[in-house]
Amino acid sequence: MKVSHQMLNIAKFICFCFLTTVIHFANAQSNFDSMSGSHPSFSEILSFRVDSVLNLMTINEKIGQLVQYSGGWDATGPSSSENHQYKLSKLKKGEVGSMLNVTSVAAIRETQQIVMENSRLKIPLIFAYDVIHGYKTIFPIPLGESASWDLEIIQKSASIAAKESAASGLQWTFAPMLDVSRDARWGRIMEGAGEDPYLTSKIGVARIKGFQGGNLNDKFTVAACAKHFAGYGFGEAGRDYNTVNIGDYELHNTVLPPFKAAAKSGVATFMNAFNDVDGIPATGHRELQHDILKGKWNWDGFIVSDWGSIGEMIAHGFAEDKKQAAEIAMNSGSDMDMESYAYEGHLAELLTENKITESQLNDAVKRILKLKFELGLFDDPYKYCDETRERENVYTKEHLKIARDVARKSIVLLKNENKTLPLSKSIEKIAVIGPLGDDKDVPLGNWRGKGVYNSAVSLLEGIKNKVDKNVQVSFAKGIELMSETVEPGKNQFLYPIKFNTKDKTAITEAVELAKKSDVVLLSVGENAYQTGEGRSQVNIGFAGLQNELIDAVTKANENVVVVLMNGRPMDLSEINKKVSTILECWHLGSQAGNAISDVIFGDYNPSGKLPVSFPYDVGQEPLYYNQKNTGRPYSMDHVTFSSYRDAPKEALFPFGFGLSYTNFKYSDLKLSRSEISKDGSLIAKIRVTNTGDKVGEEVVQLYIRDLVGSLVRPIRELKGFEKIKLKPQESRTVSFEITPETLQFYTQNKKWEVEPGTFQIWIGGDSKASTTAKFSVQ
Ligand code: NOJ
Repeated sequence: MKVSHQMLNIAKFICFCFLTTVIHFANAQSNFDSMSGSHPSFSEILSFRVDSVLNLMTINEKIGQLVQYSGGWDATGPSSSENHQYKLSKLKKGEVGSMLNVTSVAAIRETQQIVMENSRLKIPLIFAYDVIHGYKTIFPIPLGESASWDLEIIQKSASIAAKESAASGLQWTFAPMLDVSRDARWGRIMEGAGEDPYLTSKIGVARIKGFQGGNLNDKFTVAACAKHFAGYGFGEAGRDYNTVNIGDYELHNTVLPPFKAAAKSGVATFMNAFNDVDGIPATGHRELQHDILKGKWNWDGFIVSDWGSIGEMIAHGFAEDKKQAAEIAMNSGSDMDMESYAYEGHLAELLTENKITESQLNDAVKRILKLKFELGLFDDPYKYCDETRERENVYTKEHLKIARDVARKSIVLLKNENKTLPLSKSIEKIAVIGPLGDDKDVPLGNWRGKGVYNSAVSLLEGIKNKVDKNVQVSFAKGIELMSETVEPGKNQFLYPIKFNTKDKTAITEAVELAKKSDVVLLSVGENAYQTGEGRSQVNIGFAGLQNELIDAVTKANENVVVVLMNGRPMDLSEINKKVSTILECWHLGSQAGNAISDVIFGDYNPSGKLPVSFPYDVGQEPLYYNQKNTGRPYSMDHVTFSSYRDAPKEALFPFGFGLSYTNFKYSDLKLSRSEISKDGSLIAKIRVTNTGDKVGEEVVQLYIRDLVGSLVRPIRELKGFEKIKLKPQESRTVSFEITPETLQFYTQNKKWEVEPGTFQIWIGGDSKASTTAKFSVQ
């Protein structure tokens, strides 16, 4: 009998439906089965399910799974632009694997329906969005949140972001960003955990756990994405998208560890990067993606390109055209093409020319299908589409309460020389002054997801919410920071910002208010869109007319508390000379003003520590504590030493630094052994005492130095930390286990090894800690 192609497809499809149903039941049974020992494991069943779909797919359908489009869909459907019509036709054919930027249950359902009702195999789409520091309840920017050094609260904030996203129909976030960055000029420094690979690894894993929960199948979790693989934080001169020139040693010892930790923790996806690494664009970097991530680390998720980064290999001068770009990306292990249109346009042709293989294609498709199965999308493509769930789980009171807690834990007290803080709640006249003092939008930060314009609690509101009715709280803006603001409703993300450099008229009013107030809360810093993607700056001081305002106000009143709101380490050297109190408040999210007032009035004792060094001058950048000693370490007395003639070499406020309203004393550092073997361990113990009169939290930090190595080793490296809470006069002994993992590094043998020799450790409250001891490894 002659069977038509169509009949064959129908038969295949019936078979597919049957199989997936059977496998669904098999899944449910898997616990019982694995107990009996004679049945396939969960991962075998999963891979069987994936193969059952793959076997039904045509080449075009397979290629389609590797395509990701950006939406712009809303509840009323796609706009009528040509590009949208094209995307719509591809969706109907089942030749799209994923959409980004389609948000809300209604829009996601509508888009999913296009595929489910029109395509042959009905393979559900996966919906992604940049949920970086909250979906609608906005948390502090990641750099700020990292200042909490509180892994539990960081995980919690990611889990709420996941809950709100998943309740709104999404299944995948492009976070966390794991790019170690040492350059304050780089706008995206706000999106990571700062300059240290150890801290970035720990925080990255906490965020992944928060997003993914224990189970991707849960209705309130989303898949995470470790990005940008790799080196993106090292763009030359802090310029975004710029070339990266780092050697193998730096790559392995500094850049890759957070990614390795993410892969190990089971992060579902990776994103590659826009930059080249020593001449090879990350998107076409086979060694990074194919050999290291998927090979050596044996990671089984999929890699999505960054936006258009496959096509950008043409501009890099690494590919002649999109076809060659697609070939290079595919052969390097890049699985999904975000908005380059390179895979859909050229993979079929490349296959017939044997420039890529079908088994490569299958591998990429399988990785993507696997995640769709894990998320439960094959069981129910509308699983995340429930309006009631959306209504009940987004921007809830409970989430806002936690956002406030995360925000206050992220604040860093940089200076409190005259013990001005905490303020008494019965102080008579408080002035809030400055362009950010009543701002309800800036605290939301740059990557604010679905955060609503002007929805944050401003500093002024926060102060008013806190004090007694008889306290006089007055406000004077002094200056406008910007000369133009982007109309609400427009995507501010895309517009350059313009500073006001002319209109100073309101400074006089601010000075008058400062003169008659008991204390001034001077709110200055950066607009939300001074940091983030494409927001690199050579000036990391106070833009616009802020310096003039600072000057005038600090002359008018001695009791000024600087309330900084910013997304990068700023140059604070001038303001530091003028004031005795500085509170680093980042862009703290929806509850910013309330969180800041909690700290200002002592309802919360600040416990944040800088995850990044604050310089004396932009000329010091890149600046980081874990630098190498050089052959000519710093000396003030000699010219021919590694130093600057016009500025210190060190940070103004170092990594790990942050004050409290109480004090902590470190004593009795003891090592359990003074000598260990290469695979041995020892315990370092230290006594920490709260010597003040307030309950406080301290981040106890362990640093090591390998004094002589086969490669030059950093002068200090963070290798452990613990956040503890102590009552007044209470002491606690904190222990750190020093294991081969603590001591190893990527050596000249190109292996992770512990080298024999002497090690020095320091334990204390910042990277300048002075309590020290030595031991040796035989
Ligand atoms: C480009 C950014 O580099 C990346 O981090 C982001 O996830 C994508 N755009 C998607 O918005």
